[in-house]
Amino acid sequence: MFPNRVTLVEVGPRDGLQNEAQQVATDIKVELVHRLQAAGLREIEVTSFVSPKWVPQMADNAQVMAAIARPAGVRHSVLVPNMQGLQAALHGRDLAVETATPVGPRPAVWPDEVVVFGAASQAFSRRNINCSIEESVERFAPVVAAARSAGVKVRAAVSCALGCPYQGDVSADEVEHVVRLMKDIGVQHCGVADTIGVGTPRRVQAVMERALRHFPLDEVSGHFHDTYGQALANIYACLEMGLHVFDASVAGLGGCPYAKGATGNVATEDVVFMLRGMGIDTGIDLDALVTAGGYISGALGRTPVSRAGKALLARRTSEAA
Ligand code: HMG
Ligand code: MG
Repeated sequence: MFPNRVTLVEVGPRDGLQNEAQQVATDIKVELVHRLQAAGLREIEVTSFVSPKWVPQMADNAQVMAAIARPAGVRHSVLVPNMQGLQAALHGRDLAVETATPVGPRPAVWPDEVVVFGAASQAFSRRNINCSIEESVERFAPVVAAARSAGVKVRAAVSCALGCPYQGDVSADEVEHVVRLMKDIGVQHCGVADTIGVGTPRRVQAVMERALRHFPLDEVSGHFHDTYGQALANIYACLEMGLHVFDASVAGLGGCPYAKGATGNVATEDVVFMLRGMGIDTGIDLDALVTAGGYISGALGRTPVSRAGKALLARRTSEAA
């Protein structure tokens, strides 16, 4: 039974732009977020509070968070790999004090949600965050506790759930192991990520079934890079299971700097086009989204990777001629 409504988490400003070789100006990132808000996206992954030596493109994280408008009803999230990242995301707050006292209204520059990111493969964990899976979860535990007591929701991303660029195959048992660890430390939502886009529908369903043993249907999402062109099929397979939260990246931006050769996440325009055709509501204005995809692609000096985005932009041009 397909869901009637799907929530798309727009990850382009983070997962997309983190991978750009050219430095993207802060005001372009801010404008992109504003255009995504205007297109009806209600969940936006804005940036990450990681080491600027590891990912220079996200070094303006605090400036971006301070500059974006915060319309009611939009959840803005950021990645945090450790306590230092959380502290920076919560604007230098002393978390030891913060957690001891109940918090009032959240300061405007705080994210609504933070994302801790682990992996189902040891090799990828080491390359991406410089520690083993077990060490990463130990590191996340106080981050999760501090964020939750500050009133900030915590999501986890589990990378390499369908395959690893260094290890190769990753078993469903390995995925479930990390999912369980994330649950045990108090993570509230689990994103299952196909970092290198090698998953195919039946395998994706088998892995999602493992995640659903530990998190409810509303709190499991799919994050599919489209490297092998399987992402829409994988989303369809998840819809068949009733899953209804997916990450997507406007114009198909991105990849992971520590997964060489991995291309961007599935394009948000393509997912919206498919869901609209299936009569599934997303609340997103496809025209405005295509404009946002055209904007960021233009700013980066390329055409959108999104097939639907390109087709709709071409139609606009021919209709205007
Ligand atoms: P490390 O070198 O082991 O960290 O890196 P450390 O604790 O030893 O600290 C070393 C230096 O980094 C110190 O600075 C720290 O202050 C600094 P120094 O004294 O040398 O000047 N540092 C930080 N600076 C700013 N913010 C921080 C921070 N932490 C330490 N939070 C670390 C470990 C986790 C920091 C590093 O490996 C890192 O930043 N990795 C991030 C990698 C990344 O962002 N990857 C892309 C995102 S994940 C992804 O794309 C996958 C996803 O999309 C799902 C999927 O598709 O699979 C989510
Ligand atoms: Mg990703």
